[in-house]
Amino acid sequence: MKDYYDSVMESVLAINNKTTHRPKIAMILGSGLGGIVDAMEGLEEISYSEIPNFPVSTVEGHKGCLAFGKVNGVEVLLMMGRFHFYEGYSMKEVAYPVFVMKKFGIETLIVTNACGGINKTFEPGDLMLLNDYINFMPSNPMIGVNDERFGPRFPDMSEPYSLELLEIAKKAAADLGIPYQEGVYASFMGPCFETVAEIRMLHTMGADAVGMSTVPETMAANYLGMKVLGIGCITNMATGIQKMKHSHERVLAIANQASEQLSRWLVGFLEKLS
Ligand code: HPA
Repeated sequence: MKDYYDSVMESVLAINNKTTHRPKIAMILGSGLGGIVDAMEGLEEISYSEIPNFPVSTVEGHKGCLAFGKVNGVEVLLMMGRFHFYEGYSMKEVAYPVFVMKKFGIETLIVTNACGGINKTFEPGDLMLLNDYINFMPSNPMIGVNDERFGPRFPDMSEPYSLELLEIAKKAAADLGIPYQEGVYASFMGPCFETVAEIRMLHTMGADAVGMSTVPETMAANYLGMKVLGIGCITNMATGIQKMKHSHERVLAIANQASEQLSRWLVGFLEKLS
């Protein structure tokens, strides 16, 4: 069996052969949050199915390709659609694109997601800067024999979301007049939405929002030595806080509405980063 490192390098080689773009910044765009693709010049797309060893996305609202291009002259790589643990992928598959990105030359990763608001001062449609996470998923992409060519056996997670990038994002939001929240993201494996008791527990533990993604990619990116910025879109209030039952359609609808504001913010962030 091909080992993980060789698979990653094979994927990298294929991408290098398919495009001349060499971005240093990548974004993983969550459900309904792909709007920034409209701000890209010289767009070039590579479907996941064209990349050897790449998993294929199954969830509605996710496109399933890597998009290359420039935003205000800055080269970026957009991952349109991510892989979730609840789809049946292993954690190594969920984080696979992040390993590929690292070996492709990506240094900064922006992760976005749709999430449920636990902090009662939040409202659906709010954007939240992630300043930390609580991991409730039952596995981790770095489980197994460690390959030092990627990173250390025991990765430090004292600053999973770069303080430097958080400051830049806050300055960009202030300049653009974009309101935002800030808080701790808790990850559950899904695919069930949480129970009332689970949300009560998460609230007690200090979580501000809950979702079913982002943390595996954040852990892998830190392990690989990348800087990470995380932004969540509060698409609904968490179970028991909102009276309505949850629906994925409503999650997508609110994410789509917030996508334009998020895109403006990301463009402003990229300007300050470069
Ligand atoms: N819980 C988990 N994941 C989510 C939610 C939620 O309330 N909303 C959007 N993604």
